[in-house]
Amino acid sequence: MIRRRVAILISGRGSNMSALIEAAKAADYPAEISLVISNRPDAAGLAWARAEGIPTAVVDHTTYGQDREAFERALQAVLEVHRIEFVCLAGFMRLLSPWLVERWHGRMLNVHPALLPAFKGLDTHRRALAAGAKVHGATVHLVAAEVDSGPIIMQETVPIVTGDTVETLAARVLEAEHRIYPEALKKLARAANK
Ligand code: GAR
Repeated sequence: MIRRRVAILISGRGSNMSALIEAAKAADYPAEISLVISNRPDAAGLAWARAEGIPTAVVDHTTYGQDREAFERALQAVLEVHRIEFVCLAGFMRLLSPWLVERWHGRMLNVHPALLPAFKGLDTHRRALAAGAKVHGATVHLVAAEVDSGPIIMQETVPIVTGDTVETLAARVLEAEHRIYPEALKKLARAANK
């Protein structure tokens, strides 16, 4: 079995990153987490990845000012050095330009804390509660040029219950994210092996 080389891009806590790292420990998992990149030097997830023995890199967007292309070229260079085949965005809070997205067409996944195409963007849990939605959930999709769009690989719904707050709902959705992200990556990596 070929284990595809995967990079995870994070900006913060990295709980989805951890879920992917844990899943990839299974002997029959078709991908290995070969690299974790953060755009923020202080991202908590970096320490977790290092403790797991996974190579990490920081490409700090603030170094590049308004020059998004220079930031993305630096990211791409690190991905190439590590011979990365698939990229998983996991709480990576930078918008990517079509330049980078096209390079990773069909090979870049994102997890979003809502049932896309509903509630694209930020603050999804508050907006779902405000709308009176009865269900909410998580989506893993292939990344397309438009934000929070692209073919959906996997989704899981969660109920919204009386008394839910942004925090209780976010925690329920996060559990769903942790279940579907490793499954979605497995699906993509397996498809590449056929
Ligand atoms: C996750 O809920 C993820 O879906 C969300 O940020 C959180 C990161 O948590 N991503 C977005 O909102 C992207 N627009 P984590 O760092 O613990 O994985």
